[in-house]
Amino acid sequence: MTDQPMDITRVGIIGAGQMGNGIAHVCALAGIPVVLLDADAEALPRALAAIAKNLDRQVTRGNVTQDARDAALARIATAADYAAFAECDLVIEAATEREEIKKAIFKQLVPQLSPHALIATNTSSISITRLGAGTDRPGKFIGMHFMNPVPVMKLVEIIRGIATDEATFQAIAALAKRLNKTIAVSEDFPAFIVNRILVPMINEAVYALYEGVGSVVAIDTALKLGANHPMGPLELADFIGLDTCLSIMQVLHEGLADSKYRPCPLLVKYVEAGWLGRKSGRGFYDYSQTPPMPTR
Ligand code: CAA
Repeated sequence: MTDQPMDITRVGIIGAGQMGNGIAHVCALAGIPVVLLDADAEALPRALAAIAKNLDRQVTRGNVTQDARDAALARIATAADYAAFAECDLVIEAATEREEIKKAIFKQLVPQLSPHALIATNTSSISITRLGAGTDRPGKFIGMHFMNPVPVMKLVEIIRGIATDEATFQAIAALAKRLNKTIAVSEDFPAFIVNRILVPMINEAVYALYEGVGSVVAIDTALKLGANHPMGPLELADFIGLDTCLSIMQVLHEGLADSKYRPCPLLVKYVEAGWLGRKSGRGFYDYSQTPPMPTR
């Protein structure tokens, strides 16, 4: 083994939702060919359109040239079958935040991979050790947690499972640097660093709404102007997805067995109603109107 981290020349991405398309965007822009796969074939053209739109936004702002935009888009291939990952040095899983879904994906993925290939999961809360143990290569398995919107947010959290090799860590840290991201290394505890702190704050904002401490607008204005947050916590919850926020609270509640992580019943109710935030058109705001209307 050399001291040089493994060079990643082709990346596979599983899941073409907002995280998967953001990861594809930044990899392609950094010059790395990408293969993007989703269980829902219709998600793939939607993802390509979203990537094109976000690249256009960067071109308009003068952050990316038209040529770089075109070259990035040309580096993204879509696939319907895991066999398309055979030539990848790394596959990043960015599917729905549910453990059984991720485990089923890894089961289908590993027989198709080259023996040297690494697997990273973009899970925002689930144990890397447990997910890695369900694959044939726990030493080559790691957490690589991007923030939304991926092209804008500077951070990538890197989480080693108990069995993750040093060479895997070095390769992923080098990739993050190539993507122009700063890393924060977290131990493998429920929800890692960002979501351990951020999502209980969002849950507390939902409690404040539930208990009538303030309206949606009052709570968001208070945190935006009172704490200089770019978005209020309820607006941010809608942006992340209320289902994702709830599942992170459940992982914290179960994993740390502390009642302080109890998901707010109002958050549970919104998710049960299918009010998942921006992606479903309604959460704490109603997105069918411009500007979005607060719902409480
Ligand atoms: N792709 C590319 N560029 C984008 C983009 C996207 N999807 N979204 C925004 N941008 C760019 C814009 O082009 C603009 O670029 P310039 O600064 O060069 O002009 C910049 O980002 C700001 O965008 P806007 O002017 O449109 O909007 P804004 O100033 O209101 O910022 C925001 C939008 C960056 C999303 C800002 O509101 C923000 O930082 N919000 C908080 C986001 C946050 O906390 N994310 C973490 C969520 S937690 C997470 O992701 C972890 C998890 O597991 C749940």
